[in-house]
Amino acid sequence: DWTMGAFVDKEIARIRALVGEKGQVIGAVSGGVDSTVAAKLMQEAIGDRFHAVLVDNGVLRKDEAKQVKETLTAGLGVNLTVIDASAQFLALLEGVSDPEKKRKIIGNTFIDCFQQKALEIAAEAANTPRAGKIEWFLQGTLYPDVIESISFKGPSATIKTHHNVGGLPEKMHLKLIEPLRELFKDEVRELGTSLGITYDLVWRHPFPGPGIAIRIIGTVTPEKVRIVQEADQIFIEEIRAAGLYRQISQAFAALMEGKAVGVVGDQRLHGHIIALRAVQTTDFMTADAFEFDQKFLKRVKNRIGNEVEGVARVLYEITSKPPATIEFE
Ligand code: XMP
Repeated sequence: DWTMGAFVDKEIARIRALVGEKGQVIGAVSGGVDSTVAAKLMQEAIGDRFHAVLVDNGVLRKDEAKQVKETLTAGLGVNLTVIDASAQFLALLEGVSDPEKKRKIIGNTFIDCFQQKALEIAAEAANTPRAGKIEWFLQGTLYPDVIESISFKGPSATIKTHHNVGGLPEKMHLKLIEPLRELFKDEVRELGTSLGITYDLVWRHPFPGPGIAIRIIGTVTPEKVRIVQEADQIFIEEIRAAGLYRQISQAFAALMEGKAVGVVGDQRLHGHIIALRAVQTTDFMTADAFEFDQKFLKRVKNRIGNEVEGVARVLYEITSKPPATIEFE
């Protein structure tokens, strides 16, 4: 006789009891389903004593930081601080082509930015009469993540770093609060819907922590980031317009290494190569390439060719997982 309403009441009561009358909580949000639902639940439980932080790492989707701010602040009333650290991340990524190095740089820089902002928020909070210290760290861990981190010991644990905040709570001497730890993904979506989170956000495709940096093969530059962001936005827009978004589990544009020849007007142009990828999967452990019709792909290709400066070719990637992975790096 488990119901969502009962879960919400019980969880809010648990959060209030844990945190106390004055306690404060800090957490990172990404714009994804899990962190948004967790943040909204905290806001319901303790209002502005929950501090959400979004780090704009410069490799988010186009306009994503702006959209997340609108959704969380205006839409959901969450107390959110956005840090624009794009320049810092892009400077550190300069010249780096190894995917694992990119992941490390992004993970570590994220921790640095978050920690610095957390100290500022904590100092401010200490001056607020009604509030106590920040002692808690919110993490949107789901039940399958809990299981995975218990059962994966040894090298396999490093295959996928689901949470890009590894070690942060310990480092900052914060206690973990995990309101979604008993829920499966479909239950998180149901919970999000009951908390007033929009359909589009609740069904949003997952997006990796290292973002577009692992969708650019080779070195990351601001120019390449712009190209991937613009191509990706067009692809996703067309997928939505065709009513295919929910059938697809994850879709994105990526940038291949090297250039190819194209002709613009009467000029030969060496332009970038975009690859589009869309997969269907239930667990992200195996996946099939989505079968678009050719007309759809041509429409997307035409739009990218016309609207995104610097692209000479558009490819559609058809490799399943295995042998490929979903991301290119
Ligand atoms: P792969 O590429 O391994 O991806 O088939 C499976 C799922 O995991 C996501 N992914 C990541 N998520 N940090 C993340 O937060 C990462 O470094 C990372 N690498 C892959 C990927 O988007 C897909 O949903």
